[in-house]
Order: sequence, then structure tokens, then C-alpha cells
Amino acid sequence: MLLAMYLQVSLLFFIWTGALTLKICSFNIQSFGESKVAKPEILDVIGKCISRCDIALVMEIKDASGKVFPQLMTHLNSQLNRKKDQYKYVISERLGRKSYKEQYAFIFREKLVSLQAVYQYPDQQEEGEVEDSFAREPFISWFTSSRTAIKNFVIIPIHTAPEAAVREIDALYDVYMNTTQRWKIENIIIMGDFNADCGYVPKKKWRNIRLKSNSSFVWLINDESDTTVKESTHCAYDRIVLHGQNLVQAVDPKSVKIYDFKTAYGLTEKEALAVSDHFPVAFSVISGREPSPLSKSPKKRARKKTSSASYSTGALPAEFPH
Ligand SMILES: *[C@@H]1O[C@H](CO)[C@@H](O)[C@H](O)[C@H]1NC(C)=O
Ligand SMILES: *[C@@H]1O[C@H](CO)[C@@H](O)[C@H](O)[C@H]1NC(C)=O
Repeated sequence: MLLAMYLQVSLLFFIWTGALTLKICSFNIQSFGESKVAKPEILDVIGKCISRCDIALVMEIKDASGKVFPQLMTHLNSQLNRKKDQYKYVISERLGRKSYKEQYAFIFREKLVSLQAVYQYPDQQEEGEVEDSFAREPFISWFTSSRTAIKNFVIIPIHTAPEAAVREIDALYDVYMNTTQRWKIENIIIMGDFNADCGYVPKKKWRNIRLKSNSSFVWLINDESDTTVKESTHCAYDRIVLHGQNLVQAVDPKSVKIYDFKTAYGLTEKEALAVSDHFPVAFSVISGREPSPLSKSPKKRARKKTSSASYSTGALPAEFPH
């Protein structure tokens, strides 16, 4: 009786997880602070953008009081009907060389992923210490998810200083090395507002950037993309870079999207720019399951089927229009 129940439950679990993908987003919410959180129409669009994601990296948080970001979280979770969709978050300290500071945050669905560890990259500013490569050192976060094909992955977030973009993007290679040595994890996602275009990274500089010249890194947003809201600009500032064969194989290329919230919500350019000057970028990791001691062989077959199906059909249709 108990065994029968267990079988039934695990079957249901399988059917449910079979359709699941994990959507990961990166969003520079330009100067996100008191004045944005106080405007319901802006907060609403930000909330809608984030609620499309299972993990969202949020950048350019300016919250000296420490009260603004929790308001976003309260708003976000109050919009969700189902308890299982609830978000948790982790936020960095305020980062910056001088008085100007920003924070990184990860917002994630607690039923789908867990935060295993965080590591604030120790790019100290004191002289004689390590080199000061970054204006806002990556807030490296290690996630686990038992429900996706990739159980362990690390996200290295970055918002470069525009005028130092070439040097900072190149230095992300060192951060990558440091991270894999520290945690021995293959699957690494480096993403954020790289400022990787339009004068900040001239074409001829790319070959000096190790993250680009080394073919073991896979860039999902190409140089021709436009991640800016402004109609008069066309720049691929926001990027997603993958490392790790299993991770790369678990990402459906068709899931990579720049989310044009201006068109999606019928906003004017001015209204959209009030939200941010960047569109979110996103991609999805396909589902998968832990092998279970029960009914090993059928699950194995099923798993194979799941991954190939996700490749051919693309699990995410018109959700993220260009
Ligand atoms: C990572 O970098 C920090 C400082 O840059 C250094 O102290 C640490 O030893 C590095 N770790 C690894 C594993 O390279
Ligand atoms: C590329 O990066 C990998 C780390 O994933 C490293 O092992 C390899 O030596 C690099 N290749 C070159 C040509 O630098």
C-alpha cells in the first residue's frame, strides 16, 4: 500500500518535472532605489519582468537604507497566487570604489533552487593587496537544483564600469579560475551588464579578452544584439556566457531571449525608460531528474527522451518576444 503510494507520487513527480525548465535572467534595473519603488506603475513592470524568471540577477541596486529591496520582494511575492512560486533572495554588500555604491541581488524560486553558498570576490582596494580589477566585484553564488538537468551551477554576476569594460571582462577569466578552484564546479554562468559594445568595447579589443578568445566559453548573446531600451541605441551590453559541457548541452539555444518589456506591455519609450535603460536577458536550462533506486530503467529512458525533446521543440514559445 505504502509502496504503491510512493510509486504513484514519484510518477506524478516525474510527469510534473518532465515539463520543467529553469529560466535564468539578468536585469540591470538602472538606478533601482527609493524613487522607482515608490512608483506603482514602474514597480509593476519590474515585478512582471522578474516573475518570468526562476532565478533573476538584479543589478544597479542603490539602496543605502536597506529598505528598498525588501519592498520589491514584498511586491513580487504578493503578486503570486501559489505558495510554491514564492521567491527568496540574497543580496551583496554595497560595492564601489568611492561613495558611489551598487548591490547585486539574486531572486530565486525557493521551491526550484537552493542557494548553496556565496562568495564575494575579494578584489581588495588596499594598495599592495590584490589587483583592483573591478568597480563592483562579482558576488559569486552557487545554486543547486534537483529538478533540472544541471544539479550544481555557479553564477558570476558582473556590472562593469563602462570605461573599464575591456579590462573587467578580461578579468572575469581570473574570477572563473578562482571560482572553479574554490568550489570544483564545472558549470559556470557569467552574466550581467558587461557594457560589451558601442564604444566601450571596440571590435579590435575582443581578441585581448580571454573570456571571448578561449573557445571553452560559450557566449549566448551575440555582438549584433540590442539589449538597450532607447530606440536610438543598438548595443549588446548585457551578456550571458556559459562554461561547462553539461551546462552548455542543457541550454536550449532557442530559449535565449532579450525581453522587450516596452513592446510586451505597450509602453512608450519614455515609460519604458522610466523602468530601465536595459532589457532583461534570459535563457533556460532543461529539466532532468535524479536517478531513483526505484524503477531505474524506465526513468533512464524517459530522461533521454526529455532532453532530446527539449532540443527539437524548444520548451519556451513566444514568451520572450524580441
Ligand atoms: C581567489 O582569489 C583570492 C584573492 O584574489 C585569493 O586569496 C585566493 O587564494 C584565490 N583562490 C583561488 C582558489 O585561486
Ligand atoms: C581556456 O580555458 C580553459 C579553462 O576552462 C583552460 O583550461 C585552457 O587552458 C584555456 N585555453 C587557452 C588557450 O588559454
